[in-house]
Amino acid sequence: MSDGVRIVEVGPRDGLQNEKTPVSVEARVTFIEVLLDAGLHTVEVGAFVSPKAIPQMVGSDEVLRRVGSRPDGEFHVLVPNEKGYEAARAAGARVIAVFGSASEGFSRANINCSVAESIERFKPVVARARADGVRVRGYISCVLGCPYDGEVKPKAVVDVAKVLWDLGCYEVSLGDTIGVGTPKKARELLRAVAGHVPMARLAMHFHDTYGQALANLYAGMEEGARVMDCAAGGLGGCPYAPGATGNVATEDVIYMLEGLGVATGVDMTKLVQATNEISTLIGRPPVSRVAAALNAKKRLANSE
Ligand code: HMG
Ligand code: MG
Repeated sequence: MSDGVRIVEVGPRDGLQNEKTPVSVEARVTFIEVLLDAGLHTVEVGAFVSPKAIPQMVGSDEVLRRVGSRPDGEFHVLVPNEKGYEAARAAGARVIAVFGSASEGFSRANINCSVAESIERFKPVVARARADGVRVRGYISCVLGCPYDGEVKPKAVVDVAKVLWDLGCYEVSLGDTIGVGTPKKARELLRAVAGHVPMARLAMHFHDTYGQALANLYAGMEEGARVMDCAAGGLGGCPYAPGATGNVATEDVIYMLEGLGVATGVDMTKLVQATNEISTLIGRPPVSRVAAALNAKKRLANSE
């Protein structure tokens, strides 16, 4: 993409991990393939976590094995501990993401340990990954607010970001897990973290609960941030973030970027196709405004 912009499509992982309707391995593979055909390159395809915690991600090994050989994609998977690392590696993972939190309450609920303990769990994972030539991304959740602890100060985010960066993560993704941020807060946070991790290595992972995600991304771009985590159709959510809705929709981000003159190389028709197919499977229409607008336009044209 021009202007250094990079999209990390998280629909097959974040998008599906909280869905009540189970989505088969077959359907997840098809979803990923259509996303790649649409021109998306970096796709988070699964998670090697406890099947009791997130049954929706069972079969991530098969998903990764089946899409992993495609030369036109880079495939990411979540890994919480060494057990997950071993399974991810056995399935051929070349990029993994460890995921921590800026708040204690979410850390406990999500990964059953304190923030400090999570870092201790990540250390051997990152060390083994680096020795194996596997790249590691670091997520921080609740960067703009926590469903358990309330307000989260930038300092708490900076502290975790510094540790993840120093451990050797190539990128740190800042998760507004419950989508409470506003552009001013997003801007201030990025400025604070960029004092310790280069802005080019920060990703914006904004959920859209309060309808602010696109505005927050734009504010982040004005600060110089260029990496955006998005989910086709605006899918997404976390079982440990009650009340939170999906990620910012990939279609809406692509539409905004193209409007800003950033050539994305993404075929919107194919992207909306991916969204429509997965939406049919999970039984609800996409929340993406762009997908909804283009679907309505098509219906109108067909009825004329
Ligand atoms: P724990 O209970 O502390 O772990 O869970 P444990 O080591 O005591 O093991 C307990 C059981 O889990 C054992 O099985 C282990 O074998 C198994 P049992 O003996 O009871 O049958 N286990 C595993 N199984 C498969 N893969 C593994 C694994 N590890 C242990 N890797 C753990 C700790 C982290 C595993 C658990 O809490 C867990 O899996 N949590 C899931 C967290 C998750 O996936 N959350 C959603 C993703 S994060 C997110 O959405 C936020 C993000 O999008 C950014 C944002 O928006 O903010 C990234
Ligand atoms: Mg998320």
